[in-house]
Amino acid sequence: MRSPQPRRVFVLGATGTIGRATVRALAQRGHEVVCFVRPRAGVAGALAAQDSVRLLAGAVLRFGEVSDPASLAREGFRGERFDALVSCLASRTGAPYDAWAIDHRAHLHALAAARRAGVSQVVLLSAICVQKPVLAFQQAKLAFEKVLIDSGLGYSIVRPTAFFKSLSGQVERVKRGLPFLVFGDGTLTACKPISDADLADYLADCLDDASRRDRVLPIGGPGDAITPRQQGEHLFALLGRPPRFRHVPVAMLDAIVGVLGAAGRVLPALAAKAELARIGRYYATESMLVLDPATGRYDAAATPSTGTETLFDFYARLVSGAVAPERGDHAVF
Ligand SMILES: NC(=O)c1ccc[n+]([C@@H]2O[C@H](COP(=O)([O-])OP(=O)(O)OC[C@H]3O[C@@H](n4cnc5c(N)ncnc54)[C@H](OP(=O)(O)O)[C@@H]3O)[C@@H](O)[C@H]2O)c1
Repeated sequence: MRSPQPRRVFVLGATGTIGRATVRALAQRGHEVVCFVRPRAGVAGALAAQDSVRLLAGAVLRFGEVSDPASLAREGFRGERFDALVSCLASRTGAPYDAWAIDHRAHLHALAAARRAGVSQVVLLSAICVQKPVLAFQQAKLAFEKVLIDSGLGYSIVRPTAFFKSLSGQVERVKRGLPFLVFGDGTLTACKPISDADLADYLADCLDDASRRDRVLPIGGPGDAITPRQQGEHLFALLGRPPRFRHVPVAMLDAIVGVLGAAGRVLPALAAKAELARIGRYYATESMLVLDPATGRYDAAATPSTGTETLFDFYARLVSGAVAPERGDHAVF
């Protein structure tokens, strides 16, 4: 578990779902971890500075604004030397302005500051869906990936499949006796869900694993790819109830995207909602698996797996009450 070469690691996005797990994984490996976080962090600013300090035990916290280069230098890097930058930073809304400000511009500033601090290695949490970039946040991520690849620094760009939190939004409603909602017949898409801890281990191990250096790394969790229908069926089996589905036609999402898209061109306040609708449609119809460019098809067998925790183990713990569902921000990505 311990790294053969403990390093000084500067971490962005430490207060997010994967960031928290990644800070734990880095600290367990004996790295010296410095996190740069907002004074008020978490969903809707729910975490005060002391909450973040408790949450990220094992790391040193520094407070400032990641989108402000002066703050990054003054409060973040402080003129010190670091070996590596690990970023789990990502826009919480996915709205175009936020995505370009955080997933792209803030990362450009952080890369420049990291280079000045002597960083030679960058581990970036990205997303598998950038392989088919349709949405603003995907284009923003991809634009930074390109800058990182061309930067001359060592890089590992990790593109995971779906997280457990994004596939658990219906557990509570099904427990309450409501049907499981699926788009179409529930087999339009598939993914290889990956747990927070398994992904965090994978990210942390990028620092030591030479085979992950200078690579773009799609990664899923253990086992076969599963469809939304299989998720619903398993959930009902755990609850000891016959499966009950409500089928939502994709055409309904198309109509919502169309109406909000048109309204968003006139009323800027609706433009962000239109993008959220486009995000919803994307995840209703696109698999979170490696895309074969030759065939244009998603390929479960070509999607690498890591780790040991399955989504169905997690569902069992949610149903038994052993873990609480994560609430708050977007459940779609
Ligand atoms: N959900 C999925 O199924 C899935 C699948 C594959 C890939 N991904 C990708 O994985 C990445 C991370 O996901 P996650 O669920 O860990 O994200 P998350 O929980 O939303 O965390 C985002 C992190 O970025 C920080 N951040 C966001 N806006 C900021 C701002 N304006 N200033 C400073 N910090 C800011 C947040 O800090 P605060 O706490 O201060 O807000 C938080 O630390 C995303 O890029 C996502 O696209 C997600």
